Amino acid sequence: MSMICLDDFEAYTECFLPSAVWDFYAGGADDCESRDRNLLAFKRIRLRPRVLRDVSAVDMRTTIQGTEISFPVGIAPTGISSMACPDGEVCIAKAADAMKTCYIASTYATCSLEDIVAVSSGCCWFQLYVFKRREVTERLVQRVKSLGYKALVVTVDVPYIGKRRKDMLNDFKIPAHLKLKNFEIFKKDKDRNDNLPLCNDVLDPAVTWSDIQWLRSLTDLPIILKGILTKEDAELAVRHGVQGIIVSNHGGRQLDGVSATIEVLPEIVEAVRSCVEVYVDGGIRRGTDVLKALALGAKCVFIGRPVIWGLTYKENKCLEYSLSTLQMIGKFYG
Ligand SMILES: Cc1cc2nc3c(=O)[nH]c(=O)nc-3n(C[C@H](O)[C@H](O)[C@H](O)COP(=O)(O)O)c2cc1C
Repeated sequence: MSMICLDDFEAYTECFLPSAVWDFYAGGADDCESRDRNLLAFKRIRLRPRVLRDVSAVDMRTTIQGTEISFPVGIAPTGISSMACPDGEVCIAKAADAMKTCYIASTYATCSLEDIVAVSSGCCWFQLYVFKRREVTERLVQRVKSLGYKALVVTVDVPYIGKRRKDMLNDFKIPAHLKLKNFEIFKKDKDRNDNLPLCNDVLDPAVTWSDIQWLRSLTDLPIILKGILTKEDAELAVRHGVQGIIVSNHGGRQLDGVSATIEVLPEIVEAVRSCVEVYVDGGIRRGTDVLKALALGAKCVFIGRPVIWGLTYKENKCLEYSLSTLQMIGKFYG
């Protein structure tokens, strides 16, 4: 199979992963309208190329939150990445480091935040959820700060977990051999639940803007809000002193029926670009998508699912480990 574009990696992954795992990674909420719209909206935007410019040497470096990255594409947080490849998040962090770009490690990683940052010499950010038990969040923030993460990315679009029908049908659970490593310190704690991401009980649906102030009081790291989709909320974010915004609809996994992120990017850029850096994720699958996002004002883009497809492909190429992982996952899903 020739691997030419990201769609090829996606097709490969669909064939290769157990279907419940594929459904978890690929899925969106409800009718998957917003997930699909993210992709379609890029196709509707036309380029207006200028010619006879010297493009023999192209410098794609940029900075995000003051750190230089080699090109304006970072890696979005994806929980439970080790179903695609053992040590999933550590592998992603190594890849990001090799490419000199940014990786946002998920709260729901299957590798510990200590192990992830240990392989990163550059730009590693941490994605945070706010839990009902605030001390759990507070302890995560303290660990992040002491370990050398460069920014805190607070995901603000998950008051409740999106209704992902396929996961419900599959009764999706984290395979028994994997753990949410960031919660191991809560071993004897009732917050240690290996299926935390699928469980609304622990996330706090009562989070408001005042909690952003609370988080600010816990850390002097840059705070970036992920999941902003309107200029009104972008303006509120600025007023609450954040340093960045990721225009995101969680890859269409949360509230279905919202706009594609690239559709709302311009209004947000216009409202706040002079105050904070604006990034975007959702449906970015080719260089021209990146170009469109930058042309519409994003400082950098982030990609989610394609990294999982890449991990799966890499893993199959390194057969020595993948067979045992698949057997374990296979046993779990029958
Ligand atoms: C399998 C999967 C797990 C995800 N886990 C998280 C997460 O733990 N935290 C978070 O803020 N976003 C999470 N996201 C959303 C991504 O960070 C990102 O917003 C989205 O994937 C971007 O869209 P794309 O997949 O089309 O590139 C997840 C997305 C996927 C596909």
